Amino acid sequence: MALSWRVLLALTLFAAGTHYWPIKPAESAQSPASDGAATPWGSSYFPNTPLVTQDGKTVRFFDDLIKDKVVAINFIFTGCSDSCPVETARLRQVQKILGDRVGKDIFLYSISIDPYNDTPATLKRYAEKFGIGPGWTLLTGEPEAIEQLRRRLGLYIEGLENGRSRDHNLSLIIGNQATGRWMKASPFESPYILADRLGNSLHNWKQASATTNDYASAPQIRPPSSGEQIFRTRCSSCHTVGNTEPGQPGIGPDLLGVTQQRDPSWLIRWLKEPDQMLAEKEPLATLLYEQYNRLAMPNMRLGDTEITALITYLQEETARIQAPLADRGKP
Ligand code: HEC
Repeated sequence: MALSWRVLLALTLFAAGTHYWPIKPAESAQSPASDGAATPWGSSYFPNTPLVTQDGKTVRFFDDLIKDKVVAINFIFTGCSDSCPVETARLRQVQKILGDRVGKDIFLYSISIDPYNDTPATLKRYAEKFGIGPGWTLLTGEPEAIEQLRRRLGLYIEGLENGRSRDHNLSLIIGNQATGRWMKASPFESPYILADRLGNSLHNWKQASATTNDYASAPQIRPPSSGEQIFRTRCSSCHTVGNTEPGQPGIGPDLLGVTQQRDPSWLIRWLKEPDQMLAEKEPLATLLYEQYNRLAMPNMRLGDTEITALITYLQEETARIQAPLADRGKP
């Protein structure tokens, strides 16, 4: 797991723009046609697997979920404490950026790979915890059927099924069934890029983008410090620093001023091993956990250098935001 995080960080930081690759259907070299039935990724390729939603409704994979739709599909399990919450938080950002297009012409699906434990009720609780909105469906089903589906989507990785820390890196697939364009994507990609793929390029830019305003608020291009880079790629899906959208709370607390508020050794330890502190019922950690929907912050496997860089970033960003406020108070 530690290694895969490092690989992931390397991918995210140094190989921007290279984590998308088109997937070719296994059995056909036919060029994709726009007609749903004629695409090599049509109903004969995808199983029409029955799945059950978080509301207990039975749906069929091909007919109900992907036919003629632009979709993002990932595989999760609710008992997973590290990569899945990060991935879910990232998709939630994508959902926010796309706004009400999700559920209209873009659909998000998270399918459980642990159907024994993930009942519709469990999935529903998970959806509530993360504030998952309409147009994003959580699904469970028969274990064999789900495994078959993952193989078909090319998201089945042998040997990673045992043990708690199943590797989820690269378990997101996005595509347009009608045009036959499918891509694997890193869920750790910038949410703006993912949203752009789903909202524009997969729709062949046909749809007027409802997201223009949101792109304006995309992080500006200025050389980020290493701490800022780590924050953007690994923390910003759950945290803000100086939240500018009142009424839109993040999944985790806003971190403005946290370096002043907390004891440095507490903060360093929290970034290193939040899971351990929660397991020990450390009082402040437990209090925060209770306040934040009992959603445990994942252990992000941060090294000392990364922690130092992050703390420096949080200090500098707080100072940057607070400076104009302090000026206002001056005569
Ligand atoms: C999947 C969501 C998620 C991710 C990703 C995440 N956190 Fe958190 N974080 C939380 C939650 C939720 C809490 C509140 C405590 C709890 O419930 O465990 C928290 C608490 C914190 C706190 C304590 C805040 C306080 O008031 O003392 C700090 C600091 C923090 N996170 C920093 C980070 C940093 C830095 C990263 C990136 C390396 C990060 N978090 C990634 C969800 C997340």
